[in-house]
Amino acid sequence: MSEEHLLSHDIQKIMDEYDKADIVVSVSPSYWADIPGQFKAFIDRCTPWCNTHEPHATIKPGKKGYAIALRTGPNMPECERIISSIEHFYGHLEIECMGHLGLTSVEYKTDVEPRKNEIIEFCSNI
Ligand SMILES: Cc1cc2nc3c(=O)[nH]c(=O)nc-3n(C[C@H](O)[C@H](O)[C@H](O)COP(=O)(O)O)c2cc1C
Repeated sequence: MSEEHLLSHDIQKIMDEYDKADIVVSVSPSYWADIPGQFKAFIDRCTPWCNTHEPHATIKPGKKGYAIALRTGPNMPECERIISSIEHFYGHLEIECMGHLGLTSVEYKTDVEPRKNEIIEFCSNI
């Protein structure tokens, strides 16, 4: 099997999972104030399913999307930028944006502990 064929098979498998899901939750750390390159490469690979051009592949309609961003630094705008990249991606897949959460000042697991209630409350609304 050619490398190109294997790569397209990988993305098809992930899109099959998207197709089965009612809810998509994307969680991203900040890497240099942006989504990680690996996540960006994934989004780029999804282009054949996006409504930016015709014809395009589709996933079933009616899906709901949530975005979660976290970073080590203290300011929320950096999380908002990441959330906006995820929501832009959802928009072109026609996944409805239902909510987002930005977590700042998270470096270690122990930093998440005091935020547990906030996270549980967000998750309970999904
Ligand atoms: C390459 C790299 C770049 C990062 N850049 C930022 C940054 O610009 N702002 C920030 O607040 N945190 C930054 N961080 C910290 C990460 O957002 C944070 O540690 C996150 O929890 C890492 O998630 P991971 O362990 O899944 O990679 C960076 C971490 C890495 C590894």
